[in-house]
Amino acid sequence: MIIVQLSDLHVCPAGASAYGRVRTNDMLREAIEQVNALRPRADVVLATGDLVHAGDVEEYAMLRELLSELAMPVYLVLGNHDHRGNFRKVFGDSEYLPETSEFLHYAIEDHPVRLIGLDTVVPGRAGGELCKRRLAWLEDALEVAPERPTVLFMHHPPFRTSIEHMDVIGLEGAEAMGRLVERHPQIERILCGHLHRPIQVRWRGTLASTAPSTAHQVLLDLRPGAEGTFAMEPPGYQVHVWTRDTGIISHTATVGRFDGPYPFADDGTGGVG
Ligand SMILES: [Fe+2]
Ligand SMILES: [Fe+2]
Repeated sequence: MIIVQLSDLHVCPAGASAYGRVRTNDMLREAIEQVNALRPRADVVLATGDLVHAGDVEEYAMLRELLSELAMPVYLVLGNHDHRGNFRKVFGDSEYLPETSEFLHYAIEDHPVRLIGLDTVVPGRAGGELCKRRLAWLEDALEVAPERPTVLFMHHPPFRTSIEHMDVIGLEGAEAMGRLVERHPQIERILCGHLHRPIQVRWRGTLASTAPSTAHQVLLDLRPGAEGTFAMEPPGYQVHVWTRDTGIISHTATVGRFDGPYPFADDGTGGVG
């Protein structure tokens, strides 16, 4: 099973740019082209929040149009730039979304790896939260299938990243989530967004990570007190490959056109790699 993770798409109304300079829609279009060209083809795509930039209905309509190009199913969770009500207006007919619950969390059971999407949104706040109600839902969801390999995906990472301006808008409830995660060794990965760069950590008995954005990247600046800035580093996405024998192997792919591929011709230096 191949799981592609797109994150922080920050889709704008047609013709508009994020922060007046990032052509997020064009960048997502290019990422989708590249994902569709992957062989073997990915089975599913997860998008880990900040799907659109300002949370407007118009942006969600644009997002829907752009995602319709994907050759495989896509499952969406929301981030701090998203708006539940406006998202529902455009994506409310998606079969995997809960019809009645306030929170947009769900479990996808159709694949060898169980996929659990979490909703960490707190309206009007940049940071996220897993409150008692959401954690209770997650506990129930995990207890249903303790033997099945499971991926949790969510926007706000439950771990610290050392990028301070992002850590201060992290996840409330992370400690309680950690206690829950420790009791469920079937959790192979916790896949997050929000950070706009790939970061990995061993966390509470599993592996947790963030993904690059398909648009702008948060600067790698580990100085305490550093101002939050972004840069147009190459955009990317994650490719998580699962087999029964290996579990999940995670790759980071870069979006763009680059020189090559070239063969490893024998030039006397020891060959391939
Ligand atoms: Fe973002
Ligand atoms: Fe975010």
